[in-house]
Amino acid sequence: MKVIYLLSHHQAAGAAAASFHAIMAASFWILNLAFLLVSSGVAPTIAAVGRVNYLHKGSSLAVKHASDVIESPDGTFSFGFYNLSSTAFTLSIWFTKSADRTVAWSANRDRPVHGVGSKVKLNTDGRSMVLTDYDGTVVWRTNALSAEADHAELMDSGNLVMKDQGGNILWQSFDHPTDTLLPGQPVTATAKLVSKDLSHPSSYYTLCFDNRYVLSLAYEGPDLSNHYWPNPDHSSWMNYRISYNSSRRAVLDKLGQFVATDNTTFRASDWGLEIKRRLTLDYDGNLRLYSLDEFDRSWYVSWVAFSQPCDIHGLCGWNGICEYSPTPRCSCPPGYVVSDPSDWSKGCKPVFNLTCGQRTGFVRIPETDFWGSDLNYTMSTSMHTCKEMCLGSCACVAFEYKTFPNACFLKSALFNGKTLPGYPGTAYLKVPESFLSQPHTSDSVFHHGHACDASNKQTVSYTTHTNDGQGTMWHYYYWFLAVFFLVEVCFIGSGWWFMSRQHSARSEIWAAEEGYRVVTDHFRSFTHKELRRATKNFKEELGHGRHGSVYKGILHDSRVVAVKKLNDVKQGEDEFEAEVSVIGKIYHMYLVRVMGVCSERSHRLLVYEYVENGSLAMFLFGDKGPLQWHQRYRVAAGVAKGLAYLHHECMDWIIHCDVKPENILLDMDFDPKISDFGFAKLLQRGQADPGSMSKVRGTRGYMAPEWVSTAPLTEKVDVYSYGVVLLELVMGSRVSERATDGREDAEAALRQLEWTIKEKMESDDLTWIDGFVDPRLEGDFVYSEVLLMLEVAALCLEKEKSQRPSMNHVVQKFLSFD
Ligand SMILES: *[C@@H]1O[C@H](CO)[C@@H](O)[C@H](O)[C@H]1NC(C)=O
Ligand SMILES: *[C@@H]1O[C@H](CO)[C@@H](O)[C@H](O)[C@H]1NC(C)=O
Ligand SMILES: *[C@@H]1O[C@H](CO)[C@@H](O)[C@H](O)[C@H]1NC(C)=O
Repeated sequence: MKVIYLLSHHQAAGAAAASFHAIMAASFWILNLAFLLVSSGVAPTIAAVGRVNYLHKGSSLAVKHASDVIESPDGTFSFGFYNLSSTAFTLSIWFTKSADRTVAWSANRDRPVHGVGSKVKLNTDGRSMVLTDYDGTVVWRTNALSAEADHAELMDSGNLVMKDQGGNILWQSFDHPTDTLLPGQPVTATAKLVSKDLSHPSSYYTLCFDNRYVLSLAYEGPDLSNHYWPNPDHSSWMNYRISYNSSRRAVLDKLGQFVATDNTTFRASDWGLEIKRRLTLDYDGNLRLYSLDEFDRSWYVSWVAFSQPCDIHGLCGWNGICEYSPTPRCSCPPGYVVSDPSDWSKGCKPVFNLTCGQRTGFVRIPETDFWGSDLNYTMSTSMHTCKEMCLGSCACVAFEYKTFPNACFLKSALFNGKTLPGYPGTAYLKVPESFLSQPHTSDSVFHHGHACDASNKQTVSYTTHTNDGQGTMWHYYYWFLAVFFLVEVCFIGSGWWFMSRQHSARSEIWAAEEGYRVVTDHFRSFTHKELRRATKNFKEELGHGRHGSVYKGILHDSRVVAVKKLNDVKQGEDEFEAEVSVIGKIYHMYLVRVMGVCSERSHRLLVYEYVENGSLAMFLFGDKGPLQWHQRYRVAAGVAKGLAYLHHECMDWIIHCDVKPENILLDMDFDPKISDFGFAKLLQRGQADPGSMSKVRGTRGYMAPEWVSTAPLTEKVDVYSYGVVLLELVMGSRVSERATDGREDAEAALRQLEWTIKEKMESDDLTWIDGFVDPRLEGDFVYSEVLLMLEVAALCLEKEKSQRPSMNHVVQKFLSFD
């Protein structure tokens, strides 16, 4: 329970300051006493004591009084003026307890007001609430109310309501969402979410019910709009949606489950009570469910509509192409340049003019789709016919040719471009023949960073107004209040801590007893009992690694998992879970997914997705296999992408520290998945001597030379180990085993190999390669690919770590080669 003093300034400005002072001080002591009673559990409620967190009829909140803030009774939300900059303010509701005071609702997000003189007032007639700018301009007002409002108040749910004297709600902010839904706040036929951002005014995204009453995400651009969620290529039925239910209501409940009348359903990965959440349509068009971590006061994502953001429409604008590198970014096709590097949603513009009748040719972009804008589409045609059709039509600016089954799409415009490895279509963009004959540099590529900076704040500058000296009289008074407020905060803090401890203990019991289940396949906590049951008391051992044994298990929902029992983690339960939940948030195609954790008493277990084909080591050196050449090449490229993601993605970078074939698993299609990442960090954190990674052990034969020195380890140790793995993929045998025949150690053997490769590379004669490649392949390999892998391996094995490429660089090498 937090007590807020809202001074209504027209009341207080009178001369009776001294008596007012006395009254306030007295009431302050009374309230404080009441609070102490509540926090010590003697008095169950404080309802009888008059609350002052109302905005009464005729009173107002002004920007210049920083204390003009209304809080919800439980202190979760605040309502008042939110500063975008020192001179620009929005009238907003925000999360008081989040570190960046995240805004949940704004009255005027498109039109901030200036600092001094702006205010919001509940009119004396009680018929509306009005926000005025410093010069008296009305910036926002509620619609005329049907009855006379007595006061406005902020509910614990974050809903700002205006009530009449009988307590009936006349107006509520929940009916007018901006880009965020709070638990209990519905999307309806009229209430929708709109992501609109002052720094990205040219396009925006909405979450609303479409004309078939299906809850959809739509891109709303100045020239076109289209839906991109649920999958626009599927029927409602295939998307598990029900169309034409006219109720049109979608709401997130207190537990973190979202349900809509069209059968849209999802759950937070941390489903359960007591967590503050918000569902926000971010300006990058992605819908994310956030949960508040009350300890570090930051938000984490507990559900997201798109883990592959290139599927979101309009991200890269007209003519732009979205691609994974491996982070999503925008680029322009050949012949196009970016229109506005600061805003990729404005896309790319051509450097040529295409006039009808001009001689034209095509630029080919493999594995690329431009969704929509189809002039025409024909099944089972040849590539040649498709090209002729596009040449024959002036409206056709490009065509896309798909294989399996053959299909030809003529495009009237280029939008929603996306390049995806393995996509079975190729885009051909029409350009003047003169353009094709010109020499030109390869396409300009710019980083986009959409996926990473969704939380960036725009800066808005407004002219400054100087403050007047009116407030001096109250300064002394505010200081007085501030000191007491601080004392109060301490009490509340300790009370809250005490309460939350009790709550969390209770919810754990509840979770175990009530059969806590999360249907989504996101990260969660498991109980030891649950895992014991899933693994049939740890019966089937899949393998035994340095950190412990791995067992096969089957969860209650019949998903197959690998459960790893850790034997050398010394962290406490909470610390361990927090640490692992970071790893649990990492999703990447080439990384083994961590699905959950169990941390009970001395037990520390991790639950991984089950990867069908086991480790690469079994195929290279064991009795499985051999792997075909094209499979090895895919493994090489995939592992590079996975490591690049770990090293360079927006999250805390992670050094694997133990890259070796045993830690590379192969899925059903023999695509690689790196496992055991994040361990170096986990183990290191548990040690008495933090900051030193040197106690983390690598594996002999894969360890970079700097490992023996005391210098801190960098991600370049993984680059080195990756180089060794590349050699082993080519040769099909352990490089370190070469060391045992006569030479002194593995590193020297590698150095020797590295030199041999570098030397041989320079000659034109390629016959040496035959002797180098795994004889089990019987000559069935691609020379150029072997050369590429050996070249990259030689670079990665450089003794001096600064000479080794970054994993991003390695990925680029593979991509530019394909
Ligand atoms: C509703 O959704 C669930 C889960 O997403 C699905 O199993 C079910 O078939 C859907 N119902 C309809 C009628 O599409
Ligand atoms: C629409 O959905 C709601 C909740 O899912 C259900 O109660 C209602 O009966 C449905 N209405 C129609 C017309 O099917
Ligand atoms: C294309 O044509 C417009 C006018 O028609 C002209 O202003 C522009 O410079 C031309 N651009 C190029 C690259 O030739």
